[in-house]
Amino acid sequence: MKLTSRILLGCTLALGATLAQAQVAQIKVWAAACANCHGTNGQALPGNEALAGKDKAEMLQKLMDFKSGRKPATIMHQLSKGYSDEQLQELAAYFAAQPKKQ
Ligand code: HEC
Repeated sequence: MKLTSRILLGCTLALGATLAQAQVAQIKVWAAACANCHGTNGQALPGNEALAGKDKAEMLQKLMDFKSGRKPATIMHQLSKGYSDEQLQELAAYFAAQPKKQ
């Protein structure tokens, strides 16, 4: 491989990593909006619904049902409307990947 190709490849990989990091940072910002009620990283205090380590598909289904009004809620039907379906997917994936509170 020519040196210029190597340099280009290196730059492309570095850019990819930077974009991935920026995306993770963005999801953390969204998830922080859930921390008041569901705890830091979804590790809720007793009495609140913990999200950490829960099944991703199940959480996403509930969020979509809150959003559509199919699932009755006190607050989540309003909150879930503030996020696109893609954002809810990212949030469900994020919380599913967090370790459960010991
Ligand atoms: C003001 C408090 C509050 C905030 C902020 C909040 N939630 Fe909730 N969440 C609740 C309550 C209360 C419930 C139970 C359903 C209801 O009454 O709305 C719930 C239920 C849920 C459930 C279903 C849990 C289960 O297994 O039954 C999910 C998933 C969820 N919330 C995700 C989120 C996400 C993601 C965010 C951030 C975007 C968030 N919540 C922000 C209060 C909150």
